Amino acid sequence: MFILINLKAYPCDPLKIANVARDVADESGVRIAVSPQTADITRVADTGIETWAQHVSPTDHGSHTGSTLAEAVADAGATGTLINHSERRLRLADIDKAVNAASRAELDTCVCANNPAQIGAATALSPDSVAVEPPALIGGDVSVATADPDIVSDAVESAAAIDTTVNVYCGAGVSSGDDVAAAGDLGASGILLASGVAKADDPRAALDDLVEPL
Ligand code: G3P
Repeated sequence: MFILINLKAYPCDPLKIANVARDVADESGVRIAVSPQTADITRVADTGIETWAQHVSPTDHGSHTGSTLAEAVADAGATGTLINHSERRLRLADIDKAVNAASRAELDTCVCANNPAQIGAATALSPDSVAVEPPALIGGDVSVATADPDIVSDAVESAAAIDTTVNVYCGAGVSSGDDVAAAGDLGASGILLASGVAKADDPRAALDDLVEPL
């Protein structure tokens, strides 16, 4: 299982979480990545943890003020990027362009979607992975795999019907090793989570719990 920690814009210490995540990844052998604010990518990547951007713009070099250029986040140290997160939605045509921009910069891509139907559409754009996250469960206390297991298994089926090489992750409300194990049992090969680590009093204990069943 891949564990991707999205720090969003939470008031956490990205370096503290990056160092803890690197230590837990090294000790457990579990693939863990941290997705900080764009401005923090270089110092997070310098800790040695796998680092992802939270978004890239559907643009090339050019007159695009305020954009997040895929090449720029790759140069800063990111090796992957989220696209179309629930809190950073794009139009379909722009998801396609963002996936192409990220691929051009050799970034791993994970396109987020609300439900299995959208997962099918996202998979057709050939990202490396897709992630199903029901918006109503994001930031909550109940994990997607517990609150709505069908949405995870249906997303896995939906993606497989289009392209079996695209990995399927899930997220929303994940905070424990039991949540991670339940998601794996439903066919997900990775987890996206945020508040369970970014808002934890003890991020090390939170991460130890998350990797415990893996
Ligand atoms: O990107 C992951 C995120 O949307 C899930 O948030 O706080 O429910 O783990 P959270």
